[in-house]
Amino acid sequence: MKKTICKNYEKMSEVAADLIVRQVNLKPNSILGFATGSTPVGTYKLLEEYNKAGKIDFSEITTFNLDEYYPIFRSNDQSYYYFMQKNLFSNVNIKPENINIPNGEASDPDAECVAYDEKIKALGGIDLQVLGIGRNGHIGFNEPGDELIAQTHVTGLTQSTIDANSVFFPNVDSMPKRALTMGLYSILNAKKIVILINGANKAQAAKRMLCGGIGTDSPASFLQLHSDVTVILDEEAASLI
Ligand code: F6R
Repeated sequence: MKKTICKNYEKMSEVAADLIVRQVNLKPNSILGFATGSTPVGTYKLLEEYNKAGKIDFSEITTFNLDEYYPIFRSNDQSYYYFMQKNLFSNVNIKPENINIPNGEASDPDAECVAYDEKIKALGGIDLQVLGIGRNGHIGFNEPGDELIAQTHVTGLTQSTIDANSVFFPNVDSMPKRALTMGLYSILNAKKIVILINGANKAQAAKRMLCGGIGTDSPASFLQLHSDVTVILDEEAASLI
């Protein structure tokens, strides 16, 4: 895995945004995989600025997001659909029909997951997948456990994720306890992967992912199996490696 260590969050976001711009300029109809969460917000902000400045054109881009709570209405301000609209999609010239996010309103979530993987495959696969990492080493909603699931699937959230994310909901009962997430195969099948890691509270997860063996205790450690991964860390997140 290629590592780039940046002074701070702003620099990390800049390096990531530049990488995405290069990808899109080389292949204007790229298929991009996006993550939600606080980590990529700075990168998305820069992409918005670069789009307005004419440095990146989203008009031919197709996107697939990693995950979504289930069940959740798109209009819920905690849905990942809402997050992506607010932080990127409604601010750039992407065509709404080219945006794909697992549907938290689907009546048959298992069928939704199968269709999601089929659509990625039918369009030729993801060219560049952007990832963040959980403090426990999760990627997407693939949580540490005895086993990991390859394909896009419905998963229960772990207590640590419920604890971390329930603060954003009015109360813990109103937070969905399941999610739809791309699986490890769906993620590793991307042609290129870039994972962003910032903050001291991610240092242990970064060390485990980069320096330990491959194990289901760290879903992110499976990225070691991929031949084109760029890890962009800030100094705090890189402090233990
Ligand atoms: C969200 C996702 C998650 C986050 C991870 C880190 O789409 O894939 O795996 O990347 O939970 O979240 P933040 O960036 O909020 O620390």
